[in-house]
Amino acid sequence: EKGGYATFMHKEIAEQPRAVAATLRGWTGGDDAPRFDSPGLDAPRFDSPGLDSPGIDSSGLDSPRSGSLRFDSPCSGSLGISDQALRDFDKVVFVACGTAFHAGLVAKHAVEQWARVPCEVELASEFRYRGPLLDARTLVVAVSQSGETMDTLMALRHAREQGSSVLAICNTNGSTLPREADAVLYTHAGPEVAVASTKAFLTQLVACYLVALHLARVRGAGARAEVAEAARDLAAMPGAVERVLAGMEPVRELARSLAGAGTGTVLFLGRHVGYPVALEGALKLKELAYMHAEGFAAGELKHGPIALVEEGLPVVVVVPSPRAQPVLHDKIVSNIQEIRARGARTVVIAEEGDEAVVPYADHVVRVPVVAPLLAPLVATVPLQVFACELALARGHEVDQPRNLAKSVTVE
Ligand code: M6R
Repeated sequence: EKGGYATFMHKEIAEQPRAVAATLRGWTGGDDAPRFDSPGLDAPRFDSPGLDSPGIDSSGLDSPRSGSLRFDSPCSGSLGISDQALRDFDKVVFVACGTAFHAGLVAKHAVEQWARVPCEVELASEFRYRGPLLDARTLVVAVSQSGETMDTLMALRHAREQGSSVLAICNTNGSTLPREADAVLYTHAGPEVAVASTKAFLTQLVACYLVALHLARVRGAGARAEVAEAARDLAAMPGAVERVLAGMEPVRELARSLAGAGTGTVLFLGRHVGYPVALEGALKLKELAYMHAEGFAAGELKHGPIALVEEGLPVVVVVPSPRAQPVLHDKIVSNIQEIRARGARTVVIAEEGDEAVVPYADHVVRVPVVAPLLAPLVATVPLQVFACELALARGHEVDQPRNLAKSVTVE
């Protein structure tokens, strides 16, 4: 069942290029949509006639090590919500829990930046208890791997009671969430067995990007250069994720060395779309390694978290692109300098070619250059590997962490 991997986590981390490719292909609903032995693969509700041919080179889908997981165009799917309805929404609200919430935090950037629609993100467990302002002009997007998370379901029901339309992003075909939603966009991660979410997260990101691109297109923003660039880069993401996976041995070594050093706390810093990546990295480490881990927005460092920095504290920093986000990049390099000056052991996730970080980094993990909002798809992978390896080095069972259930079906 584990396909030769030591744990389901290893298997599911390795499957990510295929899962991303499958989710992209599922968007077009083509006849050759991938078979990934997933309940989530059957009958995705993309009832749009006249879809373009998916134009996929599927030669690589069976092997995570193969080179050409390309998908030509993410511009030809449908959400099962009419274009007019999508134009009429004046607000989008993402609701989700845990890792899926982190996907929602990234989605907010994509929806506002590409489609120019106001977008909020809320923990599903908080949503209905504060009387959110919802009406028929609000599109609520509920994101859930299992489709059975009680808080997310209750958020969906609350939104529908207020007259809002709900789009489910879900990995499990026929689960409660898509059955109760007005429309569904399935992710095609295949079954995720390990409790800690990995491939489901990457495919949730892909689905969120597809929603944002689709909104941009129907609302007349599809031709803008940054939207076109993002659509093009999204199609190439399976290969980019695969490249990251191929370079993970130094990350494993680092994790093992930290476990040996008796590290108790790890901080994660990021900003813009790197902030949800930092949150996700910290969540993985808590879940798997049972370590104190916190994710912070790097701009908040001076407002409190820097007091935690002491000699030898590992701090993982997700660095924005120097090319696409020079201002944020320079600010975060200053943050790295500040924490290094206070003795932190800096682990820097940086774009290939970003040399400015090198003087201040104890460890540099390289990720490919991609459109700036897509960076979480590559930057999250090293953090998954890091948490998994650190947990194993500390002697933990990574597939079934203590106290956690795969699906939280109670409030
Ligand atoms: O099935 P869901 O996506 O609704 O689950 C939401 C969270 O319970 C889930 O993402 C949880 O945080 C994971 N264990 C994280 O790895």
